[in-house]
Amino acid sequence: MQERGHDRMHDPAHEEAVLRSAARIRAVVGGRIPVAAVLLGSGWGEVAHTVRDGVDLPYAELPAFPVPGVGGHTGTLRLGSLDGPGGPLVALLLGRQHPYETGDAAAMAGAVRTMAALGCRTLLQTNAAGSLDPAMPPGRFMVLSDHLNLPQRSPLVGCKGDSRFVDMSQAYDPALRALAQRCAASLELPLHEGVYAWVLGPQFETPAEIRMLRTLGAHAVGMSTVPETILARHAGMRVLALSMITNLASGLSTEPLSHAHTLAGARAAAADAARLVRRIILELES
Ligand code: HPA
Repeated sequence: MQERGHDRMHDPAHEEAVLRSAARIRAVVGGRIPVAAVLLGSGWGEVAHTVRDGVDLPYAELPAFPVPGVGGHTGTLRLGSLDGPGGPLVALLLGRQHPYETGDAAAMAGAVRTMAALGCRTLLQTNAAGSLDPAMPPGRFMVLSDHLNLPQRSPLVGCKGDSRFVDMSQAYDPALRALAQRCAASLELPLHEGVYAWVLGPQFETPAEIRMLRTLGAHAVGMSTVPETILARHAGMRVLALSMITNLASGLSTEPLSHAHTLAGARAAAADAARLVRRIILELES
């Protein structure tokens, strides 16, 4: 598959789309800067209900944003205060476009850069993932300590200048990871920590691939997150990423894998997911 070798960073149309998207958002939030941009993956939609006075902007109204196409991903930016008026402002990104949809690893470039252009310093990512460790069963959460970019695809292909050589030695902010652990402990939720292996998908893995990933040191596997982490680090944002374990990975259980199975696994943990993200955001602000 061909990687699009465009230089979006230096493409005036891309830059213009980012500025217009940021202006549209500023028209809604005024001078307020979101404490976090929260990218909600499969199964994390319940988090949206913690923002009660929110304004919804369809991605289609934001020229830098993609139009995602997977069930469970709606393509809406919700801007509002956590817990109602007076709470911290957050930007919830409901839906991402995955590289497996079009082959474009930079599909979320405009959305992430818009958040950075608003002055938002923190990207909180969420996803659904398969577990490679039977001791981390469905319903559990994992904070990413690191990742494996297995497809070796980059959203920065075509970018110019020294800033494209992004340091990934601490891609997931250690202080934010510690904060997530404190929040989970205060909610009495077990929170695993581990390495997320990004696979392109959309097919699930074979049992042999899962055995390979375990050998490589991965703890969970999924089809998202890594491109946006790279984009956010490039844009100078700090990143925290949480996986909701929706299934044991291929070959580790007798259940066949399907997207419906992933969503069913996610429903069971939805309430805990919302509590965890809410607590993290409240702690971020203080
Ligand atoms: N593999 C890849 N992606 C996933 C999985 C999985 O087992 N579960 C949820 N997303």
